[in-house]
Amino acid sequence: MSTDVEVIHDHPVPDPGHPEHVERWTDVDEESARRAERQIAACFGVVPLLALGFVAVYFFVPKSWTVNFADLHAPAQHIWFGLLGGLAILLVGIGAVQWARLIMGDHEISEERHPATSSAADREEVLEDVHTGIAQTELGRRKLIGTSLKVALPALALPALVTLLDMGPWPGPGTRAATIEKTIWAEGVHLVTDVTYKRIKAADLAVGELVNAAPENIKDLEHDPAEMARATAKAAIIIVRMDPSSIKIPESRKDWQVNGVLCYSKICTHVGCPISLWEQQTHHLLCPCHQSTFDLGNSGVVVFGPAARSLPQLPITTDADGYLVARSDFTVPVGPSYFERDSQHDYKDGDR
Ligand code: FES
Repeated sequence: MSTDVEVIHDHPVPDPGHPEHVERWTDVDEESARRAERQIAACFGVVPLLALGFVAVYFFVPKSWTVNFADLHAPAQHIWFGLLGGLAILLVGIGAVQWARLIMGDHEISEERHPATSSAADREEVLEDVHTGIAQTELGRRKLIGTSLKVALPALALPALVTLLDMGPWPGPGTRAATIEKTIWAEGVHLVTDVTYKRIKAADLAVGELVNAAPENIKDLEHDPAEMARATAKAAIIIVRMDPSSIKIPESRKDWQVNGVLCYSKICTHVGCPISLWEQQTHHLLCPCHQSTFDLGNSGVVVFGPAARSLPQLPITTDADGYLVARSDFTVPVGPSYFERDSQHDYKDGDR
């Protein structure tokens, strides 16, 4: 039986040996080595300045400024982020490559091919190589490089940290109460159709009818499409009319409806899909995304599917002319659950 050693020695290609070793100028001239060291340190030394420049751009260049050049139309901030961040990373790379080329140990080595599994001796050898490599970085002797790198690498974290600010305000109780737990619904806001913004009369709705609707004050946001989209995503509603004798209306919600006309959030409490698949006979509303089903004839409780909470109901009444108006905002947050959400005020089957 042949051994691994024999296989290696039987290799048909003769060992060409090492080419003649050529000394680097930094190995033979100490002044050249020091100059290379200074150049590398300069590369690393500029990185913190570029990182600070990145942070300054974030705070002082208005987000509305744009660069328009030929076919390029981009926010000025993004152009500067790219230039400053890219240059910082490039300089770290150049410094590291030059460090390896000019300063670190320069010894040719060759290694015989060997079986894929490393022997204990090989592993020890690898560890020894790692330690030798660390020693060859000359960090102990080249303090300038070590110090500048220690400043440069943490500085690269600054741009990443500062852009976290764009993730929005910290979602503490105050922020949540003013944002995701609030919609633009308020007492006296008229319910209007979601496309034509026409006010809706309770008496005009037929039993079994479902209407997609919105708050009338959504029109005030037409000048700001992004804000309008955000407000619509939370305030969208459906209005349904059912025969009052065929539904359950708890005592606490008696005055939230008008003669069998009820209003619910259109946003599924599972992960937020808009819902309007309506089964007149059963009063069930089906979400097309994951089939959660809500019973609108029983305060929106979940009767099937992954949603964990009832569909929020908007308390409504009519104005002097019979048009539907909200009595208040939703009494619980609309849409999907989130960690800090308090579910104690959600309607549960059997609540009075
Ligand atoms: S979003 Fe409605 S069931 Fe998942």
